[in-house]
Amino acid sequence: MAQAEIGLIGLGVMGSNLALNIAEKGNKIAVFNRTAERTREFYEEAGSLKDQIVPCETIEEFVAAIRPPRPIIIMIKAGDPVDQQMELLKPFLEKNDIMIDAGNANFRDTMRRFDALKDSGLTFIGMGVSGGEEGARHGPSIMVGGKEDSWKRVEKVLTSIAAKYNDEPCVAWLGENGAGHFVKTIHNGIEYADMQMIAEIYGILRDGLNMSATEIGKVFDTWNKGRLNSYLIEISGTVLETADPLTGKPIVDMILDKAGQKGTGKWSVIEAQNMGVPATAIEAAVAARSLSSMKDEREAAEKTLGLPGLSALSVSDRDAFIKDLESALLAGKIGAYAQGFAVMSAASKEFGWNLPMPTIAKIWRAGCIIRSQFLDEITSAFTAAPDAANLIVTPAFSTMVKETDGALRRVVSAAVLAGLPVPALASALGYFDSYRRGRGTANMIQAQRDFFGAHGFDRIDGADNHHGPWGSGLVAGA
Ligand code: 6PG
Repeated sequence: MAQAEIGLIGLGVMGSNLALNIAEKGNKIAVFNRTAERTREFYEEAGSLKDQIVPCETIEEFVAAIRPPRPIIIMIKAGDPVDQQMELLKPFLEKNDIMIDAGNANFRDTMRRFDALKDSGLTFIGMGVSGGEEGARHGPSIMVGGKEDSWKRVEKVLTSIAAKYNDEPCVAWLGENGAGHFVKTIHNGIEYADMQMIAEIYGILRDGLNMSATEIGKVFDTWNKGRLNSYLIEISGTVLETADPLTGKPIVDMILDKAGQKGTGKWSVIEAQNMGVPATAIEAAVAARSLSSMKDEREAAEKTLGLPGLSALSVSDRDAFIKDLESALLAGKIGAYAQGFAVMSAASKEFGWNLPMPTIAKIWRAGCIIRSQFLDEITSAFTAAPDAANLIVTPAFSTMVKETDGALRRVVSAAVLAGLPVPALASALGYFDSYRRGRGTANMIQAQRDFFGAHGFDRIDGADNHHGPWGSGLVAGA
């Protein structure tokens, strides 16, 4: 029997779906799971794809079933289990075999694993996979980091299973060691911001305009046909229109307002902060999830403090305001993506990856959770202006910011006055306002730092006086 082209360990939901996708695209795949029972069950359920699948019950059998150099995808819970699995696998592998971690790993773990294998003859790929269960089964977006020749070995299989945008596969080799997992982390950071901003707009429509879930769902459906066309807007519309089987009410109204998080959003913020790159909309989104989880504290605070501001949103023209909400969401989105790409650009320098920004935007156009029309516009903007300091100063996006930031300002102002929380949208607005202002206010910060800590400052006239005469002469009239 011909050897398998690739192997996969971990037949949970994501692993099973990825394995079926690989098999369906005509690639022979060997599979192994910690429990042989699951492997047997998976194989039995594979139907017509069985011919392409080699179920293995021992690691030895599994490794022998794959054509060397063997690419082996590990799709298990991120963290220690990956290290343990790699240790179990290593004694059976041969020179140039490739272990591929396809989970949501912290890229720093990926760098460590990559380095640890450096002199062993084995290689490692850290591969970000986005698109959830459906994506894994029918076409995810795949972000690959590792040695270029390891990538060459898996390029054909991965290209066959990736999502396609206008026939272009949503998979790319993005650089050495942790590049793929870093880009996936930032994808998730942006995903957090995108989701939070949609939730904030939903909050304005629900609590400010007193609209029902179904009515809001229809608004999102309409937006999905316009510039906001995206997977997240599409599913948000569907979510809002879905009935609870128990009560018949909109199910969204029955869901507790406490959001979970597994860490990737937080990692993007930590890395952004480490490099001194502002990612305020992403930070606000991560913090909003944390605040959401403090349900008891929030309920107690509402009793103590009451709800702030005016109780009703002050809107004279409802339709115009809903149009503003659409533009505001687009503007907020631009802020979040600009920040995410700026973080990747800094990381590219910091870790020597040479991350290709237009390619990253390209492979996010389909398959992944943040897929959208908008990413095609980012692809074009970065292709036309590859050296732009920031997405928002590219010709295409500076025009979009100028077209939409007025709406963002009106929406944030109205929400703030009504006491409706819009932390991510407000952060995006604050980012635009700070980034575009040539003369900011940090002269005051520098003066304060110098006053209490003699930290020094630069002068605008370049003159040589780097400390203030604090406490000596005062300005006339002071
Ligand atoms: C994706 C998703 C996926 C997963 C996140 C959710 O790109 O397919 O981002 O990776 O849904 O882990 O993360 P939280 O649980 O932190 O929201």
